[in-house]
Amino acid sequence: MRASVRRLRCVPTVLAVALACTVGVACADDASTVHPDSWPRATWPFPKDAVLEQRVAALMAKMTVEEKVGQLIQADILSVTPDDVRKYRLGAILAGGNSKPNGQLTATVAQWQALSDAFYRASMDTSSGHQAIPLLFGIDAVHGHNNAVGATLFPQNSALGSAHDPELIRQIGEATAAETRATGINWSFAPTLAVPQDVRWGRSYEGYSQDPKLVAQYATAMVEGLQGKVGTPQFLDGAHVLASAKHFIADGGTKNGKDQGDAQVSEATLREIHAAGYPPAIDAGVQTVMASFSSWNGTKMSGNKALITDVLKQRMDFQGLVVGDWNSHGQVPGCANDDCPASFNAGLDMLMAPDSWRGLYEHTLAEVKSGVIPQARLDDAVARILRVKFRAGLFDQGAPSTQPIAQKAADVVGSPAHRAIARRAVRESLVLLKNNGGVLPLDPRKHILIAGDGADNISRQSGGWTLNWQGTGLKNENFPGAQSIGAGFVEQVKAAGGSAEIETDGHFTTKPDVAVVVFGEDPYAEFQGDIPNLLFHPGDDHELELIRRLRGQGIPVVAVFLSGRPLWMNREINAADAFVAAWLPGSEGGGVADVLLRKRDGSIGNDVHGKLAYAWPSTAVVGQGKPQFALGYGLTYADHAQVTKLSETSGISGEQIPVGNYLDRGKAVHGYTFTLIGARGASITGDVSPATTTDGALHMAALDYKAQEDARRFTWAADNAQLAIHARAPLDLDRETNGDVLLVTTLRVDALPTQDVWVGMACGAHCQGHVSLGKTLATLPRGQWTRVGVPLKCLRTAGADMHHIDQPFAWGAGKGTDIAIARVALGTDVDQVVECAK
Ligand code: BGC
Ligand code: BGC
Repeated sequence: MRASVRRLRCVPTVLAVALACTVGVACADDASTVHPDSWPRATWPFPKDAVLEQRVAALMAKMTVEEKVGQLIQADILSVTPDDVRKYRLGAILAGGNSKPNGQLTATVAQWQALSDAFYRASMDTSSGHQAIPLLFGIDAVHGHNNAVGATLFPQNSALGSAHDPELIRQIGEATAAETRATGINWSFAPTLAVPQDVRWGRSYEGYSQDPKLVAQYATAMVEGLQGKVGTPQFLDGAHVLASAKHFIADGGTKNGKDQGDAQVSEATLREIHAAGYPPAIDAGVQTVMASFSSWNGTKMSGNKALITDVLKQRMDFQGLVVGDWNSHGQVPGCANDDCPASFNAGLDMLMAPDSWRGLYEHTLAEVKSGVIPQARLDDAVARILRVKFRAGLFDQGAPSTQPIAQKAADVVGSPAHRAIARRAVRESLVLLKNNGGVLPLDPRKHILIAGDGADNISRQSGGWTLNWQGTGLKNENFPGAQSIGAGFVEQVKAAGGSAEIETDGHFTTKPDVAVVVFGEDPYAEFQGDIPNLLFHPGDDHELELIRRLRGQGIPVVAVFLSGRPLWMNREINAADAFVAAWLPGSEGGGVADVLLRKRDGSIGNDVHGKLAYAWPSTAVVGQGKPQFALGYGLTYADHAQVTKLSETSGISGEQIPVGNYLDRGKAVHGYTFTLIGARGASITGDVSPATTTDGALHMAALDYKAQEDARRFTWAADNAQLAIHARAPLDLDRETNGDVLLVTTLRVDALPTQDVWVGMACGAHCQGHVSLGKTLATLPRGQWTRVGVPLKCLRTAGADMHHIDQPFAWGAGKGTDIAIARVALGTDVDQVVECAK
C-alpha cells in the first residue's frame, strides 16, 4: 500500500526522480520534498458567492497599495495605537498574553470594549480619504476567554482529551466565543490542533491528545463551537468569533519536544499524524490557520511554500487567511522581524508583527513596489483577508460595544451557565489511575483534610495562558467567581454534614479520616515548560514526602495531580491509596469534589469518566518501556482493580537531576520564591514583570537573553533595595561548600555608578553572609552577558551558616545600578570568580 502511494506521488515529478521511484523503493527526493497529491483533501464548505466576490473586488479597486499592505499586518495593542491604525490602515491587532488595556491585569470588560471600539473606529475613519475596513482583533482565548478577569476558565485542552466528548467541546467553544465577543474581540487563536508526540514539550497541554483521531474529532467540534455551524444563522453571527487552526504543521512533532523546534519526520508522518485536525477544521469552515514557529526537516513553516500554499491552500482547498505566529517570520532565513517577503511569498497572508509592525509595513510596501512580492500575491492575500471580514459580518455589525452580546456582557462573561459547562468538563476529564481498597468515592460526612500546594490555588489549577502569558504571579483574588479545588471540597462536605480543613502543608488541627493531597506543576507557557525528562520537580520531593507522612500517620491518602501532561509518578502512585490525574481543570475546582465525594445519602453522585488521551509513562525517560497506563486507560468506581507496587526506578541518573537551581529563565524555580525588597523593607513578588517596589526604589522588567523574556533587568532608583530568593525549607549546602562549589549568577552589567554591590545568602534572622561584587563587576564590559561565581566558602567566611540557608540568593546595589540577571544556580563553570575578602 505504502509503496504504491509512493509511486503515485512521483508521477508528476521530473523524469529523473520518477525513474528512481519504483515499487518498494523510496523516491530520490530529499526529506523535505512535498507531494501534495498524497495529502488528504478537504472541502471548503462555502459555495462560490458572486455577491461576496463583487464586494471584495469593488473595495479592492478603490484601495491604494499602501492600504493593501496595511491589511497584511497584525500589531499588538502594547505597541500600536488607534492613531497608528488610522494612519497605516492595519488589517488586524492582537492582545498577546501579557497585553491588556492600559497594561492593567485587572482590566474590566468595559475597558476591553472601549479599547476595541477605539481601534474599530480608527479602522473605519474615512476622514483622510481612506477606505473603511473594520479590523480583526485576535486573542488567545484558548481555554475560555482566559485573558479577561472573571471569565470562565475551562480545563486546558490536554484535560479535555480525556473526556472524549465532542459535544462538550462544541459547547465550550460556543461559551468561549460568547465571552470573547462580549468584550469586543472577534477572533480567537484557537483551536490548537497539535498532536503532541513528546510531552517534554511545554505546550503539550494545549493539544487535545497524542491520538490524531481524537484531535480530528475535536477540531470539528471546536471550530463549530467558536464560529457557529456553517449554513445556520448562528454562523459567525454577533455571538461567535473567527477560529484559528494552529500551528500548521507539526508543532507537536518536534525533535525532543523542543518548542519552536524541528519536526524530523517523514512526509507520511506529517500527513497521517500531524495533519489530522486540518481537513476537518477546513470542512467545518475555519476562517484562519496560523503557521507554526517550528520547522519541518529544517525548513521553517513560516517560509514553507510547499506546505502552506501547495498543500494547505490548494490540496486542502483552504480559502481563508493564513496568519503567521508572533514574529515567526523573523526566524525564516534571510528575514528579520521587520522584513520578510519570503513569508508572504510562501503563502502567508498576514504576519503577526506585534512590536515590529511599522518596519514590516515599510519594508513590505517597498517590496511590493519593487516586485519582490508580486502584485498577484498581494491581491490574493488582501482578497482572502477581506473575504474573511465580510463573511464575519464585520462591515455591517458596527462598533464592538454595540453588539447585543456586548451590551449584556455582565450576564455573559463568567456566567453561571458557562461555569456549569466548565464544571461538567472538569468532572468528565478526571482520570482515575488507582483506587486501591475502593477508597474513592469519599464519604462527605467524615472529616477530610485537603493538603498540598494545589489545595487552594486557582492559578496552579489553571496553568499557563491564564490572565497573563505564563499564568504566574497570581492570587486567588485575581479570579472572581472561581473556586479552588479545596474550596469545592469544603463547600460540599459541609453541606453533607461532614467537616473539612485546608492545610497546604498537611499539618492538621483535627486528625482527618482521609486526606486529599492536591499538588502539581507550576504554571508555564511555551518554551518555559520544556523539560529534559519526565521527572516532576526534580530534586524536590516535598509533595511525595507529604503523602508518605500522612500515610505514615495512618490516614488514607487520595492524590490529585495537577499537570498539563503525564509525568513519571510511580513513587507518588505507590505512596497514595488512590491517584487521580486532574490535569489543569481551570476555574471550576468544585468539579473535582463532585466526582470524588459520594452523595450525602452514601450513593455515588458522579462516576469517574475520563480515559487517558496521553499514555502515562512508566519511567521518566521518553519512549523507554511500555506505558504504565496505556491510552484509553481509566478506572471507574465499578472497577475493583488493585494497582500493585510500581517500579520506582525513574531511568534518570542522579547527575541529570538539576539541584541548586534557584532562578532560571528569569523566574524562581519550583520550591523557591523571588521577591523585590524596597529600601525600607517592604517586599513584593518578583514573579511578574514589570514590577516596582512600592517605594519605587527597585524596578524590574523582562528582557530577552537566549529566548523571549528569559531574563530580568533590575534598576535601582535608590540605595538599599534588594532582590532575594527564599527557599521553602532551609537548605543544607555544607557539602557543596566543602566541594568548592560556586554561587553562579548569569548577568549583564548595564550601569554601575557605584561599587556598592553585594551578593549574599541568609540563614534565618540575623544570620547572613555578604560578599562584595563591586570590584569584579567594575572590570566587566558593559552590556555583555557573563557568569560570575562566588565561592560558597566566601559566603561561609562572611558569616553564612551553610547548614541552614533559607535565602540562597540575595543581591543589593546602590542607586543608579542597572543589571540584568538570567539565571542563578550552584555550579563550577564560570567566566569570573569573585575573590574572597581576607
Ligand atoms: C506570546 C504572547 C506574549 C508574549 C510576551 C509571546 O510569545 O505568545 O502572547 O504576550 O510572548 O512577550
Ligand atoms: C504563540 C501562539 C499565540 C501567539 C499570540 C505565540 O507566541 O505561539 O500560539 O497565538 O503567540 O499570542
